[in-house]
Amino acid sequence: MRSFLEVDDLTVKELNRVIDLCIDANPPKVLEGEGVALVFQKPSNRTRNSMEMATHQLGGHPVYIRGEELGFDKRESVEDVISTLSGYYKCVAARVFDHEILERMAQVELCPIVNLLSDTGHPMQALADVVTMVKEFGDLNGKILSFIGDGNNVFRSLAMGAGMLGAEIRFAGPSDYCLSDLDKDRLAAVGVEVDEFAFAQDAVEGSNVVYTDVWTSMGQESEIEERKKAFEAFTVDSSLMDSASSDAVFLHCLPAHRGEEVTGEVIDGPKSRVWNQSENRMHAARGLLAWLLTEGQENE
Ligand code: CP
Ligand code: NVA
Repeated sequence: MRSFLEVDDLTVKELNRVIDLCIDANPPKVLEGEGVALVFQKPSNRTRNSMEMATHQLGGHPVYIRGEELGFDKRESVEDVISTLSGYYKCVAARVFDHEILERMAQVELCPIVNLLSDTGHPMQALADVVTMVKEFGDLNGKILSFIGDGNNVFRSLAMGAGMLGAEIRFAGPSDYCLSDLDKDRLAAVGVEVDEFAFAQDAVEGSNVVYTDVWTSMGQESEIEERKKAFEAFTVDSSLMDSASSDAVFLHCLPAHRGEEVTGEVIDGPKSRVWNQSENRMHAARGLLAWLLTEGQENE
């Protein structure tokens, strides 16, 4: 039973195949008469709506379930929840605080599990991001992607996806918020290396893509003030974008905080592709589900 908990659950060949399916607006209705459970322990706009519409476009029925209703390991065990849901649904997709919950769901091996964001990764976002970059540049090979800010869940998955497709990955952020050695080892296992910079300007020089995310992720709200101070030199503004390549685009997974990680002038300016990127969440979700529920399970 194949699940999609992180981008490296796919080989490079499979990732390219999934991207092709994401770009195909009319894949076969692989979910006809079937359902997908969408479980959320945290709020969402893009992920919930893109997954609902993608499921519908594949002929299926999405059902949104709040994490509190299921009460993982309080009302019943994670394993019992999945054993039940797999009787109704073709696939369970979940947004969780603790990535280990997704791993336990996948170990039940009764239906494929999809990671809709955990503390460690956001692979559905990364898939939409690489689809956005492929649509923009045709190919990621040799393109330079600079991520400015927090070495967080979004960055881990993005570095993996874009790096697996041949992009050069750069990171600039405060030293306490870089990737861990464990993260770097996992990236190295799929041939991805991250060049770290102390100053945003040095990272962005000549970049084709400049990417940022919020400084404080969901679940870290008690650290807001401390993080605002730590990240104050890492706002993506127009002068930073001017050091990038002349064809550079700006990406952000959203939601965004204008005046913190990015200025309004950049996110609402001509180099921004954030609305293409957010729409691509739906195309990415459709392609991933179409692959995971068919070809992804062959020879399993
Ligand atoms: N980018 C993203 O995952 O957005 P939501 O939190 O709104 O789903
Ligand atoms: N890093 C952010 C991404 C939100 C889509 C978070 O985890 O809250």
